[in-house]
Order: sequence, then structure tokens, then C-alpha cells
Amino acid sequence: MDRGVFLFVGCLLTFTSSWLGLVFLPQAQLTLAQPTDSLAYPIPLTEEEQRGRKVYQSLGCIYCHSQQIRSQKFGNNADMERGWGTRRTVPRDYLLDRPILLGTSRTGPDLADIGSRNPDANWHLLHLYNPRMMSPGSIMPAFPFLFEKQPKGEQPSPNALPFEGAWKEQLGEFEIIPKQDALDLVAYLKALKKRTPLPEAKE
Ligand code: HEC
Repeated sequence: MDRGVFLFVGCLLTFTSSWLGLVFLPQAQLTLAQPTDSLAYPIPLTEEEQRGRKVYQSLGCIYCHSQQIRSQKFGNNADMERGWGTRRTVPRDYLLDRPILLGTSRTGPDLADIGSRNPDANWHLLHLYNPRMMSPGSIMPAFPFLFEKQPKGEQPSPNALPFEGAWKEQLGEFEIIPKQDALDLVAYLKALKKRTPLPEAKE
């Protein structure tokens, strides 16, 4: 084994460089982005929004939705042209998230800034109940188990979903009431906002 030293140094360099790239640098970026007094960002989630985050995790929304807006330099500014955000996301955006729900697949649109793009709670509830009602031809799965179907009383319940047109007729004498999980999930979606200007998110 006259090449033992080369092997040893080779292995050492391989492991050190991957540790630097995968552990040290990301950690250093996060440490640099600690909240400062002058900029109260990110804003902690309320209890309801945190519960909604758990629902998001448990229903596997992450399999189809990312939460990361890429910089203008990336891919001809595709993310911003699609209207998914107004600036790129940076490590500071994720400081309070555990686990961080970046996502790797984009079967559906990026949701990092969905709360600014569409803050309409009723839209989201109807979309979760049946995505095709709000987005014709959608391939997103429906989540009807987040809702209760019940016969309409004398007066429609104040929290029943506002169905329109043919969908309303189809429902007939029934009404759809969101369960707590649906309300929490929508509160979480509405809290996903990435418009605060940050010094490190220039491009
Ligand atoms: C199988 C893939 C898939 C899964 C799982 C999925 N979605 Fe979607 N989602 C899509 C697709 C495709 C669209 C685009 C069409 C549409 O608007 O329905 C979409 C659209 C959306 C939109 C509208 C985005 C916009 O820019 O208007 C929201 C909000 C959303 N999904 C939330 C969720 C949530 C919350 C979950 C988990 C409960 C979820 N999705 C699970 C595929 C998925």
C-alpha cells in the first residue's frame, strides 16, 4: 500500500468538501440571516396557521407544490413572469420553519407567496373541496373529507361554502361546511407571503 497517503487525503478532501457545501455553508447562511431589531421578519405563525401547516404536511401538498421563488437570473425569470412572486426567496424567509417545506416538484404552482397572490379564503375553501370548480380541468386532487355535507336548514348556515351556478344546483338541498382542518389550512395558505423587501434578495 504505497498509495495509502493519497487515498487518505483523497477521502479526507471528499468528505470535507461535502461537509463544507452541505452543512457548513447552509448553516452559515442561516446564522447570517438572524432577525434584526430593525426588520421584524419573518413574522411567526399564529396557532391556527401552525395547525394549518401540519395539515399541509399531512395531506402531502408538498408532493406537488414548492415554496421557493427562484431569482430573475434563473431560467429567464420564469418564476416571476408566472406571477409566483415579486422577489426571490432567501434563507431568512425560512428561519422559523421547521421542517422547511421547500418541495422538489412543481406539478402545481409555487405557493411561497400564495397569500399575497390570492388572499380570498372562500376561493381556497371551494378549491380544496373541488379544484375543478375554481380552476376548470385541474388535476389537483379534491379534499372533500375536510368538509361536512349536511342538509340545509330553514336558513343556510353562515359558514356554508358559497357555491355558484350549476355547482349550487347540483348540491340541491345540502350545504358544505368546512371542518376546523380546512379553516386552519386556509389560514396557513393566507399567511404564505414573501413581499417584504430584504437587503439580501436583490436580484
Ligand atoms: C397531485 C398534485 C397536487 C397535490 C397533491 C396538491 N395540489 Fe394544489 N395544485 C395542483 C395543480 C396541478 C394546480 C393548478 C390547477 C389548479 O389551480 O387547481 C394546483 C393549484 C393549487 C392552488 C392555486 C395556486 C394558484 O396559484 O392559484 C393552491 C392554493 C393549491 N393548489 C393548494 C394545495 C394544497 C393546500 C394542497 C394539499 C392539501 C394541494 N394543493 C395538493 C396540484 C396538486
